Amino acid sequence: MSPVWLGHPTLAPIRGQRALVTGGAGFIGSHIAQGLLDCGAQVTVLDDLSSGHAHNVPADAAFIEGSILEERSLDRAIEGCTLVYHQAAMVSVPQSVEQPEQCLMVNVLGTQRVLEAARRVGATRVMLAASAAAYGDTPQLPSSETDPTAPCSPYAMSKLAGEQLLRVWNRTHGLETLSLRYFNIFGPRQDPRSPYAAVISAFADRLAAGKSPMIFGDGSQTRDFTHISNVVLANLLAGAAERSWAGEVVNIGTGRSISLLELARTMSTVVGFSGEPVHEPARAGDVAHSRADIAVVRELLGYEPMTDLEEGLRDTLAWHASTT
Ligand SMILES: NC(=O)c1ccc[n+]([C@@H]2O[C@H](COP(=O)([O-])OP(=O)(O)OC[C@H]3O[C@@H](n4cnc5c(N)ncnc54)[C@H](O)[C@@H]3O)[C@@H](O)[C@H]2O)c1
Repeated sequence: MSPVWLGHPTLAPIRGQRALVTGGAGFIGSHIAQGLLDCGAQVTVLDDLSSGHAHNVPADAAFIEGSILEERSLDRAIEGCTLVYHQAAMVSVPQSVEQPEQCLMVNVLGTQRVLEAARRVGATRVMLAASAAAYGDTPQLPSSETDPTAPCSPYAMSKLAGEQLLRVWNRTHGLETLSLRYFNIFGPRQDPRSPYAAVISAFADRLAAGKSPMIFGDGSQTRDFTHISNVVLANLLAGAAERSWAGEVVNIGTGRSISLLELARTMSTVVGFSGEPVHEPARAGDVAHSRADIAVVRELLGYEPMTDLEEGLRDTLAWHASTT
């Protein structure tokens, strides 16, 4: 798949800038790092490899192995950076329930430290990987940025706190900040073997092994599955925008949703697998339905999802097949 951002005229301001991607050895951060390199930026990745892998870091990026909580690593990584893409986090909801303190430490204190380091070195803007989890488990559909928030886990709460920190660092220090609330993101390099694997990578992993996708519950749950290329594009547009940011929050999704049952069948069709999905008991706390309203991000960033679900699934399944 050729990157959708190549030749995008509005991304020219990124050329020549220096960018830090925290969590750049992870799924989303590594793609943002590559997108920045494609646009002519110099990129440093800071990652402690707690859930990411060194081999995900693009070859042309500088890699510092360390935590956002360690001042020395952070200072070294952020030196000279104008753009900061803060993707590092404890990303799992169940893990955040088991280890709430560690979650708040990394996702809240860690975000504060990244903001403070960005302020110290005079960075221009910080973009945060925020989450649709902020809308809670019975969101209005489609969810829009002005809807009430109702975090239901330490993870969701910590991501929402991150958004607030970005607002405060803008108000108190004039640092430009923008929070991008990601809906269900999928694509190559999403770890299928993690105990917290996201559904598409889990389905893809089973299909690559010739097994039926496994669904928790009846499969009527719906999600706004968003291919990683759309997320990278949104982040690049945020970094390149002529306007300045003042702590705004934008949804990053497609505005469309699909049930898990339909998803499993579509993925099976793409790989030519004829079996039906298998069902396991529903998991407590799973959101029934989720879908983004993307009017605000369209307006503020000129963002339009450029990779649709089927194309994104083909890309992801091809990657899984190549790694199995
Ligand atoms: N994947 C999704 O659908 C989704 C949805 C909403 C929000 N997000 C957010 O997007 C971001 C990236 O998620 P992902 O799906 O790529 O997960 P990921 O686990 O692949 O990436 C997270 C990265 O952060 C690194 N990290 C964790 N703690 C760190 C620390 N203290 N210092 C330095 N690095 C650290 C990990 O090693 C990993 O490489 C996260 O902030 C997550 O909360 C993801």
